[in-house]
Amino acid sequence: MELLQARYLLRNPSGKIIETPNGLFKRVAKHVANAEERDKAGWEHTFYDLMANFHFLPNSPTLMNAGLPNGQLSACFVLPVEDSLDSIFTTLKNMALIHQNGGGTGYNFSKLRPCGDRIASSGGTSPGPIAFIKIYNTATEHVKQGGKRRGANMGVLNVDHPDIEDFIMVKSEGNKLQNFNLSIGTTDDFMRAVNAGTDWNLVNPRTGEVVKTIKARFLWGQIVSQAWKTGDPGLIFLDTINRHSPIPKQGTIQSTNPCGEVPLFEYESCNLGSLNLSKMLKSENGRMRVDWDMLEKTTEASIRFLDNVISANHYLMHQIETQTKNTRKVGLGVMGWAEMLAQLEIPYASEEAIGLGEKVMQSIQSKSYDMSQRLAGERGVFPNWTVSTYHPDRPMRNATCNSIAPTGSISIIANTSYSIEPLYAIAYKRVGILENKTQIEINPIFVAKMEAYGLWTDRLKREVLETGSVQYSKVVPKEIGKLFETSLEIPWKYHLLHQRAFQKFTDNAVSKTINLSGGTPKETVSEIYRTAWEYGLKGITIYRDGSRVDQVLQACRLN
Ligand code: CDP
Repeated sequence: MELLQARYLLRNPSGKIIETPNGLFKRVAKHVANAEERDKAGWEHTFYDLMANFHFLPNSPTLMNAGLPNGQLSACFVLPVEDSLDSIFTTLKNMALIHQNGGGTGYNFSKLRPCGDRIASSGGTSPGPIAFIKIYNTATEHVKQGGKRRGANMGVLNVDHPDIEDFIMVKSEGNKLQNFNLSIGTTDDFMRAVNAGTDWNLVNPRTGEVVKTIKARFLWGQIVSQAWKTGDPGLIFLDTINRHSPIPKQGTIQSTNPCGEVPLFEYESCNLGSLNLSKMLKSENGRMRVDWDMLEKTTEASIRFLDNVISANHYLMHQIETQTKNTRKVGLGVMGWAEMLAQLEIPYASEEAIGLGEKVMQSIQSKSYDMSQRLAGERGVFPNWTVSTYHPDRPMRNATCNSIAPTGSISIIANTSYSIEPLYAIAYKRVGILENKTQIEINPIFVAKMEAYGLWTDRLKREVLETGSVQYSKVVPKEIGKLFETSLEIPWKYHLLHQRAFQKFTDNAVSKTINLSGGTPKETVSEIYRTAWEYGLKGITIYRDGSRVDQVLQACRLN
């Protein structure tokens, strides 16, 4: 509730809050239901219940802006960066407008000529893409989203760009580029070159000339070493992304949004929402079970909600409106996965959890597609459907339906665990999310389970407050403790297996951080990055504990 008060509830011009949480959900439900042709009141009621029961929440911009004049409702954008000052600074301006209205932006800077390359018109030389990324970063610093939080960016540079070595190093140098996640645009050819130990060419995008040849493994070593040091760069696997693109005829996708869960065409936007899995449960004979019926119904209503958002949205520029309405991409994901598992008494680090993850996401995907097909019957297919891979067999309203977002804020509002991440800690101080406030929290599901087992004592409470863990506890039996293993206690292989399980049934991508303990060696980072490609993931991000001074609670790299 504190987060809602600090950032989401409406205020009057003098800053006084003039809305209740229920008032917020009413405002959003009414605005989104207004896109319906029939029974607006009935849909308003359904959408209100979805949110007020915390079964589903849309991404933050929808909660903040729906129903306001010119309310911008999407979280995710990709913008073009062409090799001209006009393009670079037009996109910088558009970035500022998008951030101001609550969105985050991704770009691929690979079309920019490298540092030191000729500029015919001025007779000078180019400062290269990194100089412009620094300018974007500084601008981001000074444009707060709705005066509330800072915008987020994804900066991609392809692995064959001549400035790639400087890009890899940039975060460990003086400029931390705090408002950017950086990812290498990686290709299958590069991964094969690393595996085979062959040479790798760096090519000037302006002339097509090879300007340098280096060992692929040397570059790989640099990537791994810097990721180990700072968490950046991550990788995005461009060939995997494009192999799965539903509209390959529309062009090649070059970038994702800031946290990686939505690959998008330039000027395309996407709005997200997440189901709260910790609520998709029912009690049967004293045991918790997945409520598949509830999951299906909630999925259907949520897809309808998200499709309505595309129609109810205010678009900041006509290119974005055109691209977005041509494909009508939405991204329904999940939060509360770790809490669902804990309530089902299934350890996160187990084959059973991986199997259930696949089953849950398969159900969400299947119902999402059914609903999108039904909406196509009711409202028409998305305009680019005829050139999509769905044509002619499956009419669809939306080119994509699912994305697993980090849910950095909405999971706090719903009071559940982030996205598909394990519990971060059983008890922790949360710093930085609300300005200057530190909160101590003990996971309520943990407390309830300990009470049920008759284990909840002052001694245990003191223990978890001190250590945030029960893995070394003398009072909690091992098999119960295993249900509450925290992010750094989960072996990396299970982090990756969960990402793969959800990616298998997600048409967009999965945003996940592979959290590693401080002592993790560089070789492990290399193995994780390589395995991610072999698993067919669309991107990969690691974070080694303590490797960044500004460590907030790490749900994703930017929040
Ligand atoms: O929980 P919430 O809806 O606020 O967002 P999230 O799931 O943590 O992030 C979803 C997307 O919102 C990110 O991938 C970004 O595109 C965008 N975002 C942003 O623009 N600025 C932030 N500070 C956080 C997220």
